[in-house]
Amino acid sequence: MFNRNNSVFLFFSFNLCLVFALHNASSHNERKPYVVYMGALPAGGSKVSLSAVHHNILSQAIGDERIAVQSKIHSYGRSFNAFAAWLLPHEAKTLSERRGVVSVFLSIKRKLHTTHSWDFLGMPTAVKRNFQIERDIIVGVIDTGIYVDIPSFNDKGIGPPPTKWKGRCQTGLNFTGCNNKVIGAQAFNLLDNNNQSSSPADFEGHGTHTASTVAGSLHGGASLYGLLNGTARGGVPAARIAMYRACNEGGCADVDILAAFDAAIADGVDILSVSIGGSPASYNEDPIAIGSFHAMQKGILTSCSAGNGGDRGVGPTVTNVAPWIFTVAAASTDRHLVTEVELGDGRKFSGISVNIFNSSSFPLTSGTLASLLHNGSGRYCGEGTLDESKVKGKILYCLTQNRQDYIIEKMGGKGIIISDQSPRQFAFPFIIPASIVKFPEIGDKIEAYINSTRQPTAVIHPTKSVKVNGSFMASFSSRGPQFIAPNLLKPDITAPGLNILAGFSPLISISGEIDDTRTSVYNILSGTSMACPHVSASAAYVTSFHSDWSPAAIKSALMTTAKPLGVKDVDVELAYGAGMIDPIAATNPGLVFDIDEAAYINFLCKIGYNSSNLRQITGNTTKDCSRISGAVGEDGLNYPTINLNLNTVSNNPKIDGVFHRTVTNVGEVTSVVYKATIEAPKGLSIEVSPSVLSFDSKNQKKSFQVSLTGNYPDEETMHLSGSIIWSDSIHNVRIPVLVSRPAGSTGQ
Ligand SMILES: *[C@@H]1O[C@H](CO)[C@@H](O)[C@H](O)[C@H]1NC(C)=O
Ligand SMILES: *[C@@H]1O[C@H](CO)[C@@H](O)[C@H](O)[C@H]1NC(C)=O
Ligand SMILES: *[C@@H]1O[C@H](CO)[C@@H](O)[C@H](O)[C@H]1NC(C)=O
Ligand SMILES: *[C@@H]1O[C@H](CO)[C@@H](O)[C@H](O)[C@H]1NC(C)=O
Ligand SMILES: *[C@@H]1O[C@H](CO)[C@@H](O)[C@H](O)[C@H]1NC(C)=O
Ligand SMILES: *[C@@H]1O[C@H](CO)[C@@H](O)[C@H](O)[C@H]1NC(C)=O
Ligand SMILES: *[C@@H]1O[C@H](CO)[C@@H](O)[C@H](O)[C@H]1NC(C)=O
Ligand SMILES: *[C@@H]1O[C@H](CO)[C@@H](O)[C@H](O)[C@H]1NC(C)=O
Ligand SMILES: *[C@@H]1O[C@H](CO)[C@@H](O)[C@H](O)[C@H]1NC(C)=O
Repeated sequence: MFNRNNSVFLFFSFNLCLVFALHNASSHNERKPYVVYMGALPAGGSKVSLSAVHHNILSQAIGDERIAVQSKIHSYGRSFNAFAAWLLPHEAKTLSERRGVVSVFLSIKRKLHTTHSWDFLGMPTAVKRNFQIERDIIVGVIDTGIYVDIPSFNDKGIGPPPTKWKGRCQTGLNFTGCNNKVIGAQAFNLLDNNNQSSSPADFEGHGTHTASTVAGSLHGGASLYGLLNGTARGGVPAARIAMYRACNEGGCADVDILAAFDAAIADGVDILSVSIGGSPASYNEDPIAIGSFHAMQKGILTSCSAGNGGDRGVGPTVTNVAPWIFTVAAASTDRHLVTEVELGDGRKFSGISVNIFNSSSFPLTSGTLASLLHNGSGRYCGEGTLDESKVKGKILYCLTQNRQDYIIEKMGGKGIIISDQSPRQFAFPFIIPASIVKFPEIGDKIEAYINSTRQPTAVIHPTKSVKVNGSFMASFSSRGPQFIAPNLLKPDITAPGLNILAGFSPLISISGEIDDTRTSVYNILSGTSMACPHVSASAAYVTSFHSDWSPAAIKSALMTTAKPLGVKDVDVELAYGAGMIDPIAATNPGLVFDIDEAAYINFLCKIGYNSSNLRQITGNTTKDCSRISGAVGEDGLNYPTINLNLNTVSNNPKIDGVFHRTVTNVGEVTSVVYKATIEAPKGLSIEVSPSVLSFDSKNQKKSFQVSLTGNYPDEETMHLSGSIIWSDSIHNVRIPVLVSRPAGSTGQ
């Protein structure tokens, strides 16, 4: 979720949480939560015996039975072998050196990062569905919990859960049980267990929103107090939801994320949706990378948010970058939210917010004029800077700062016009009528009107949605490149993540603030967290037509049929990957790029992971890089994108790279000829060999080689962006080709 003061809020709560958790383990206040990872499950092992094994190992490392009992947090053992415990640094070290222990790592906290969006994606309510199969698909959502008793989770007409389901439904505070839509719910808050954190109920709204975006039921008249009124539905409205709560307001602890993966994989979910910030560090220290690897081994695709780090000159920000993860960026839909401000002289200006109040005219003033001191110190309308008698009954014009709506509301103000220099894309609610306008273009006009008028007035109108042309990348959506595997393009794909209306939990106010009393079973949220479930649902939709496809094949189908966004240079593929998803086209991609477990392992060896790192990810102690020699080409992976990252400081770097790819014919026609069409920018030559691929049976594989050569045309260009399209005149299998050089290589 993306909130106005999210980072401050999350950071603050995180500290509180940790202090609380450590206090709980007060007998050893230096102890910290660690995961002791022991790899894949032993053949034929049961949970009970594993738990006893974990206890023995822990007792030996700590040297005290009683402390060992207190220190143990959790035994994993349904999908992989691990346990979590409160440890001192030397105990962690002892454990890490023990035979059978693959790795020991400190648990840290990760951040949390729809009516119309499905129509926008070309999936109308009446789209062709495999209803019988779709209702047997279970989407596991690792998030903040779920509130079941809302229209989005109505279970009418889908019958009892599929028989393959092995999960549980736990009860707890504000959570009385599941239904045939939400078939599973469990909470893992292993470090700070209390009535609230141990309940699967959603006290944040985030998990209810993401889960309903994936598989919410159809419900007409859905809106946030009338705004974005329409029919709400998830992408696969017949599919089932299993919620694994691993997060609370403080974020998501590694020990809980791993517990969620451990349970979900064993429970029998088909797709995993994880809108949680991962780590940009190496895969072997990232619980989402490890958990999703185990999921991939069981044929489960994990779709994750790319992160909300944006593009604001802070370098690469993309997270969740393992190649077996589907990494999702966020873009707008074709619908924008506009909150109009009308001045007393009849002029109207557009701003942005979620304003669900009715419009009324009130006297207007500025923070400058309402300053307590007469020197303009109130222009930000900050705490203690305004004269209450000049605020009461008025709409205030203020330069931007946090939480001004509360200050003005407390003084009896009637509304706020916030003037902000940075372009705003995502809209959120305030506790009084509000609109954010652009400074200085619009802000100065409003202030000049206030300065020059004897009795200025204004109306802040209710927010309207307006249809606009096309889609653009959200500025907050995290950008590549990433440096774990520099020639692997991340993010992979883009989906709507800006101003998305979906189900919401009435256990929290619509603004997330404690003193806001408004609740709703729908809310409008923005973030790559909202984009991820669109891709999870699309993957489930493709699965309902091709239940035998591997996670990589489903991912390939969605990537090669995605539509590139028309924005160039700063936004290129490092922002949107293959482009905006097209779920219907993805059911019939023609060719797919498949990747199996062995190929991922070859790739890991190629990018420099040694045998011990490899064990940390795969959990398999027999995997050994020295015996592997399969990965060829710049990236060593059969990925449906091609990315050459020139790691050079040269002013005029030479482009020279070779990539190898293999496609599988999954089309209906068994005998078919595909021809390559190349689109290359100035300076880049893309050669495909062979450039014609003839298939004479279904599932036949053909390989080709892509050679990139050339020179940068000038000093300014950073990215050379082209494509290869394999076409049989019915299918267009599009592979983006991107060549990048590091910022700074031009000497600027
Ligand atoms: C949540 O539980 C509390 C305590 O039982 C109760 O007072 C409250 O009404 C419940 N809220 C909702 C929305 O169910
Ligand atoms: C928390 O749970 C305990 C045990 O079930 C109960 O006694 C207590 O009243 C609960 N507290 C709240 C705030 O619901
Ligand atoms: C939403 O739209 C429907 C149909 O157009 C209408 O009947 C209903 O009153 C609207 N609801 C709100 C809250 O505006
Ligand atoms: C807006 O006005 C309508 C009709 O008068 C009323 O039903 C509704 O409650 C009002 N909304 C707010 C937020 O005051
Ligand atoms: C206004 O005056 C106060 C008190 O003298 C001072 O602290 C503040 O910095 C001044 N603000 C501006 C914008 O000049
Ligand atoms: C409005 O008046 C205030 C106070 O005199 C001044 O600081 C501000 O620059 C004026 N703004 C415009 C746009 O005229
Ligand atoms: C909007 O899209 C339509 C159809 O694609 C196109 O014809 C039109 O030129 C576009 N308008 C603008 C302002 O981009
Ligand atoms: C593998 O690499 C890690 C660093 O990632 C290093 O600490 C370790 O010693 C290496 N192991 C082997 C067997 O080379
Ligand atoms: C570990 O990898 C080896 C070689 O790839 C394989 O034969 C074996 O089945 C794997 N073991 C487990 C537990 O996955």
